[in-house]
Amino acid sequence: MLGMTFAGLRVPLRWCPRPWAVTSMFCMAEPRWGKASVSSTWRLLSGTSIEPPLTRERYGVSRLPFSRVTAQDLHAFQQLVPGRVVTDEEQLRSHNTDWLRTVRGHSEVLLKPESTAEVSQLLRYCNERNLAVTPQGGNTGMVGGSVPVFDEILISTALMDQVISFDNVSGALVCQAGCILESLNQYVEGQGYIMPLDLGAKGSCHIGGNLATNAGGLRLLRYGSLRGTVLGLEAVLADGTILNCLSSLRKDNTGYDLKQLLIGSEGTLGLITAVSILCPRRPCAVNVALLGCKSFTRVLEVFAMCRDLLGEILSAYEFLDTECMRMVQTHLKLSNPLTDSAFYVLIETSGSCASHDEEKLNTFLERALDSGLVTAGTLATDQGKIKALWALRERITEALSHDGYVYKYDLSLPVNKLYDLVAETRVRVGTSARSVVGYGHLGDGNLHLNVTADSHSDTLLAVLEPFVYDWTARHCGSISAEHGLGFKKRDHIHYSKSSAAVQLMQRLKHMLDPKGIMNPYKTIPSID
Ligand code: FAD
Ligand code: MLT
Ligand code: ZN
Repeated sequence: MLGMTFAGLRVPLRWCPRPWAVTSMFCMAEPRWGKASVSSTWRLLSGTSIEPPLTRERYGVSRLPFSRVTAQDLHAFQQLVPGRVVTDEEQLRSHNTDWLRTVRGHSEVLLKPESTAEVSQLLRYCNERNLAVTPQGGNTGMVGGSVPVFDEILISTALMDQVISFDNVSGALVCQAGCILESLNQYVEGQGYIMPLDLGAKGSCHIGGNLATNAGGLRLLRYGSLRGTVLGLEAVLADGTILNCLSSLRKDNTGYDLKQLLIGSEGTLGLITAVSILCPRRPCAVNVALLGCKSFTRVLEVFAMCRDLLGEILSAYEFLDTECMRMVQTHLKLSNPLTDSAFYVLIETSGSCASHDEEKLNTFLERALDSGLVTAGTLATDQGKIKALWALRERITEALSHDGYVYKYDLSLPVNKLYDLVAETRVRVGTSARSVVGYGHLGDGNLHLNVTADSHSDTLLAVLEPFVYDWTARHCGSISAEHGLGFKKRDHIHYSKSSAAVQLMQRLKHMLDPKGIMNPYKTIPSID
C-alpha cells in the first residue's frame, strides 16, 4: 500500500525533506559536466527490438536534391570536430530510429560538436555543400522529428553539456543545449531550485531538445510553458551565423522576440546551442494523491474543486483511464494502490509551508470523499511513495511501447470534451486495435490519445486519420499540444493553423534557411 489510504479522516501530512519525485525510468549516466559521452538509453526502454522499415519506404517520401556525403566531406568534418565523427553503422543505429520505433532514416554520419563555434563551422560547411542536417538531442521526440528521413547528417548536442552559470538570487540558469534535463534538475536542486519543466523522458532528453519541441510536461500547470520561463537562447542558423540572444533579463522589449521563433521550431530554423532559463525555488513541501473516480465528469468536477480549495499550491493535475492502469500493471508490473476505477487522478501540491498545505489538502480530500466525487484515494508524503505514485502516470508511455505499435495523438481540447474523443475512437476502431487509451495533463487541457495494435497498418491508420484531426479541429482544439509536428504530423498543420499562418511560416523558413538544409521533411509543409 502506498502512502495512507484515507477514509474521510483527517490525514496528518508530514514534511517531505527531498520533495520532488526525481523519477528516472532511464538508466541515465551520473550527472556530469565533463566530456565523457552519454549513451542513448532508448534501447533499454522500447518494448521491442525490431527495427521499423525505412521511413522512405513506409511513407513513400521522395528525397530532395541535397548533396550526398563524400569522403572529402568526412575528411572536412574530421578537421572541424576531430575524433567526433561517427560513421560506424552499429553506433548510428540508435540515432537513425526514433524512440517509438516508428520511423527510421539511414544517415551515415553523426557529428558531435562541443562548442557553438564548432556548430557554426559545421553548418556553414553543410550549407555551402548543400548537405541536409538533422539536429538531435536525446532522441526522445514523439513525432519523428529527431531522426533523418533519408541520409541527413546528424548533429548531436550530446557533448554540449556544460553549465555556463547559475545565479542563485534570480534562479537564472545558463547552460549548453546538450545538458540532460534530469542532470540540470539535480544541479539546481543542490542550490535550492528546480527546473520549471519535468517530463518522463527527463533522464535522456536535452534542454535544447526541450526548447526545440517547446515541451510541456508535468509542471506546466504550475510554472507555465517554456515560452514564459526561457529568458534567452543562442542558436546557429543554417549558414553558420551565430544568433546570440542569451539574455538573462526578465524584461527586454527591444524589438522582436527572436527566441520565440526558435522555441518549438523543431530544428527547422537553426540549431539551439545554449539556453538561459528561469528556475523556480524548490518547494519544501510536496504531496501527491492518487484518487479514483467513477466517470470522467467526476474527474472534471474534482479538478474544479481542486482549483477552488488548493489554489496556488496545486502543481499537477494528471489523469489516466483504467486501460492505462492496466498497461502499467501488465507490462511494467507496477501495482495499483487503489481498487479498480474507471479513471484515476494524480494530484500534486507543492508549497513553501507544510502546515498550510496540509490544512488545504485535508479540507480538499475530506470534501472530495464526502461529496462522493472520489471513490478511493491514497496519499504519499515521502519521496519513495511520491515516486511510486508518479511512476503510474509517467511510465504509461513506456508501458504502451510494450503493448505493440503505438499510434500516438497529443491534442489540446476543451476539457469538457476531452474524453469524448477517446470513447468515440474506441467505438470507431472496434477490434482492429489492441487498446485505445486516454491520459494526459488534464490541468492543461492536454489529452494523450494512444491506440496500440499488433503492427503498423495503413488500414488502421486510415480509420484514425483524418478522423482524429477532423474531430479535434471541429472542437477548436490543436492537433499538437506539446509534442510538435515533426515528420509524422507536418502535413496536418492546416487542421490547427490558417493557410495565411502556414504561408508566413514557409516564408520565414525560406528566409532563414534558403536551401532548406535544416531538418527537411519536418514541421512545415514544403512550399510546393
Ligand atoms: P530530440 O528528440 O532529440 O529532438 C526533438 C526535435 O527537436 C527534433 O525535431 C530535433 O531535430 C530537434 N532538436 C533537438 N535538439 C535540438 C537543438 N539543440 N536545436 C534545434 N533543434 C533541436 N514531451 C512533452 O512535451 N511532454 C511530456 O510530458 C513528454 N513526456 C515524454 C515522456 C517520454 C517517456 C518520452 C520518450 C518523451 C516525452 N516527451 C514529452 C516528448 C518530448 O518532446 C521530448 O522528450 C523532449 O522534449 C525532446 O528532447 P530531446 O532532447 O530528446 O529531443
Ligand atoms: C506524457 O505526458 O506522458 C508524454 O507526453 C508522453 C506521451 O504522450 O506518451
Ligand atoms: Zn504529455
